[in-house]
Amino acid sequence: MAENRVVGIDVKQPSSVLPRNNVLDKDIAYVLIDAETLQQRVAELAHYIDEHYHNQDLLLTAVLKGSVVFMADLMRAITIPHEIDFMATSSYGTEVQTSGVVRILKDLNKPIEGRHVVLVEDIIDSGHTLAYLTRILAARNPASLRIVTLLDKPDRREVEIPVDWTGFSIPNEFVIGYGLDYNEKYRNLPYIGVLKPHVYTRCGDEPIEGA
Ligand code: IMP
Ligand code: MG
Repeated sequence: MAENRVVGIDVKQPSSVLPRNNVLDKDIAYVLIDAETLQQRVAELAHYIDEHYHNQDLLLTAVLKGSVVFMADLMRAITIPHEIDFMATSSYGTEVQTSGVVRILKDLNKPIEGRHVVLVEDIIDSGHTLAYLTRILAARNPASLRIVTLLDKPDRREVEIPVDWTGFSIPNEFVIGYGLDYNEKYRNLPYIGVLKPHVYTRCGDEPIEGA
């Protein structure tokens, strides 16, 4: 594990906040982390990053598309100067399990050699995708490479990942919202929620876990 790492806030109970004002809300069984709680935690994570990279050349990198909302909020909460860059990947594996063999669809725009890189992740599940990506990026000789993730599902971990900053540690549920999708939908919900089972059965399958 990374030294001085910040562990995620343990989320065990649904939020008391009810989903409202969105046509997608009817598909939501319950809100796990409400919008206000998300924003507070993102501000805290940004503060850790501010402190850690003071006077350093910081590059935030995120993997499309799930991390986009977290990235957008995190970068605005970070007050020190920094740059951003994106990668896009597709992972091979079954519908419910990533294999960790990742194909790069879009690489970072610029070399990262000698730079302080933070990989911004939406959620860590098995850990295979991140293990692969950190291997690729570490081989490019950045000055440092650290990981910030909004969500972590520790019960699902198959590969040990040295995560430096974690927003929330959540139960083994398939979650959507705040960038995370089910069949490409629900990314625009401002909270993290759990879908009603009929949404899966209507589609005739289990949640597909992909970027
Ligand atoms: P891993 O390789 O199993 O760690 O897969 C991580 C990726 O799977 C994440 O970056 C997400 O894109 C996706 N994923 C994992 N769990 C969920 C979930 O509960 N909802 C939506 N996407 C998920
Ligand atoms: Mg992702």
